[in-house]
Amino acid sequence: MSLRFIDTHAHLSDEAFATDAPAAVARAAAAGVFKIIHPDVDSSERAAALALCKEYPKVMYHMIGLYPGSVDKNWEKEMALAEEAIGPETVALGEIGLDYHWSTEFEKEQKLAFRYQMELAAKLGLPVNIHLRDATEDFFKIMDECSHLGVRGNIHAFSGSYETFKRLQKYGDWKVGIGGVLTYKNSKLAVAVKDIPLESILLETDSPYLPPVPHRGERNEPAYIPIVAAKIAEIKGIDIEEVAEATTASATELFSL
Ligand code: NI
Repeated sequence: MSLRFIDTHAHLSDEAFATDAPAAVARAAAAGVFKIIHPDVDSSERAAALALCKEYPKVMYHMIGLYPGSVDKNWEKEMALAEEAIGPETVALGEIGLDYHWSTEFEKEQKLAFRYQMELAAKLGLPVNIHLRDATEDFFKIMDECSHLGVRGNIHAFSGSYETFKRLQKYGDWKVGIGGVLTYKNSKLAVAVKDIPLESILLETDSPYLPPVPHRGERNEPAYIPIVAAKIAEIKGIDIEEVAEATTASATELFSL
């Protein structure tokens, strides 16, 4: 039986793939990665991403959203452009959330934009793909305020503890996206992944970022998903087939693929 994987977060319209995105999709397919979900950042990359996804129906899927790092004083203008781009093919709002790592200058606007997009997701009946960095308490505060909406989703590039995962379960069947970081020496993520149920894990690369060992320092790409799946299997003491089946079923269900 050949393994089938889904990469739930890959930026294939990034300039890192300017010359070979089609080849990266082909290498992914050869590695068993039969579906790839493309996250949105802001209007600067959106047209290219949508065009790329359109070339690969039933293989590449797109999300639409305003990334926290792209939020500033004029976020409402960017938000309007994002909303215009949402169509029947849109599988989620993402990546959206909070990021105070580089700057807290637009903290207030980030919170407004995140909250707005949670409400929009509820209105549209779409799941969300969360980007969260150095803003855990504010994130959970907004999750509390939005809990009545019943929105589902996942935290992408999850790097939190098992306790943070448990806290997330308060809001329903939320998933966590696990990628190359899991393979890094000294990564604490392995401790959390051991305890997080397999059914709550989605695979992702976050290409071109965060490549798994032995590709550190290189460009990441969806074809490396099996490396992450193998690491999860090793940590949990199960077969990679089981990881492939469970993560593919979870991604298919959450994003209605
Ligand atoms: Ni991303």
